[in-house]
Amino acid sequence: MRIAALDPYDDSDHLDWYRPQAAAEAFDWPDEPGWSNEELAARNRDQSSGEVILAVAREEDGSVAGSVSLFLPRLDNTDVADMWLAVVPEKRRRGTGGLLLAHAESEARRRGRTKLVAHTESPLGREGSEGERFARAHGFEAALSEERRVLALPPAPGLLDRLERELGPQALGYEVTTWFGACPEPLLKDLASLFSTISTDAPQGSLEKDEERWDAARVRREEKTAEEMGRELYCAGARHAGTGRLVAVTELSVPRQRPATCYQLDTVVDRAHRGHRLGALVKAANLRHLLAAVPAAKRILTWNAAANGPMIAVNELLGFELAGKSVNWMKRLG
Ligand SMILES: CC(C)(COP(=O)(O)OP(=O)(O)OC[C@H]1O[C@@H](n2cnc3c(N)ncnc32)[C@H](O)[C@@H]1OP(=O)(O)O)[C@@H](O)C(=O)NCCC(=O)NCCS
Repeated sequence: MRIAALDPYDDSDHLDWYRPQAAAEAFDWPDEPGWSNEELAARNRDQSSGEVILAVAREEDGSVAGSVSLFLPRLDNTDVADMWLAVVPEKRRRGTGGLLLAHAESEARRRGRTKLVAHTESPLGREGSEGERFARAHGFEAALSEERRVLALPPAPGLLDRLERELGPQALGYEVTTWFGACPEPLLKDLASLFSTISTDAPQGSLEKDEERWDAARVRREEKTAEEMGRELYCAGARHAGTGRLVAVTELSVPRQRPATCYQLDTVVDRAHRGHRLGALVKAANLRHLLAAVPAAKRILTWNAAANGPMIAVNELLGFELAGKSVNWMKRLG
C-alpha cells in the first residue's frame, strides 16, 4: 500500500479521490443521493479561501483503497486543517485509514496547522459508526455534536399560512425579500457581514473557531462555486424598513440535475434584530420560493448543532424531523 498525492485539477486524479468518498457515503447513508464528483471537483478546485490537498492509498495492483482531503483555510482559522477521510467498505480494518491519517497529519503540521478537524455521520439508531470508533482510537475528541433533520415536501397544508399569520405581527418594521442565485448588489455587504456572524454565533462546542472573514468578493466567489457545482441557490432575507439593511438571511442549495433532495445552508439573524421571529419567517418565505420554482423538490436536509435550541425550534415548527446524528471531531497536533 502506498500513499500518493493527487492533483485536484486533474479529472482522473479527482475521480480516484472521489470514489472511496462516495462508496463510504453510500455505505453510511444508502438512501441518500450523496455528493456527485462534479460537485466536489468544483468545491475542491475553488482554492480562493484555502488550499486543498488530496491523496489516495493505492494497493500494489493500482486500485484505490481509500482517500483523504485537507482543506487549509487561509483567510481565517489558519490553525485548522479540515479533513475528509474514507476507506472503501470492503477494504477496512487493514490499516489503510491509519496510513491516510498519518499522511494528513504530517501535511497539516508541515503547513503550521495545530488542529485537525473531521466529521462523522450516522443515521438514527446506527450511532457508534466505524468512523466514530476510528476517531476515538486515533486521539480525536468529540468537539461538537450535530443533528440532521429532514423535511418532506410539500409541508403540511396551511402550515405556512398559519405561521405567517401568527408570527408576522412580531416582525412589524421588517420586510421579507427573496432572490435566486446572485445576491442583489445593494444587499451584498450586509450579507457578507451576516456570514461572518454565523461562523461564531452558532454553537461550536470546543472547536474554538475564529470568526470567518467575509467580504463582498468572497460572497461572489462562493456564488460562482455553487454555479460551477451545478447548485442553484434560493435565498430569502429580511430588511429592516427603517434603515434598509439586510438583517436576516437563509439559503437553500438545489442540485440542478437531481433536485429531489435539497440542502439547507446558513440561516442567520443579526444580533440586534433577534426575537422578532425573523428566522422562522425567512425560512417560511424561502420554502414558498422553492415550492413555486422547483416542483421536483421532495425533501430538504438540514444540520444543526445539537445545542442550537433556537434554530432547531424553528425547524421543528416547519415540520423537520430528526434523521441522524453527527459529530465534529478535533485532534490537537502537537
Ligand atoms: C474511519 C475509516 C476511514 C477507517 O478506515 P480503516 O481502513 O478501517 O482504518 P484502519 O484499519 O487504519 O483503523 C481501523 C481502526 O478504527 C477502529 N475501528 C474501525 N471500525 C471499527 C469497528 N467496527 N469496531 C471497532 N473498532 C473499529 C479500530 O480502532 C480499528 O483498529 P483495529 O482494526 O486495529 O481494531 C473508515 O471506516 C471509513 O471510511 N468510514 C466512513 C468515513 C468516516 O467516518 N471517516 C472518518 C473521519 S474521522
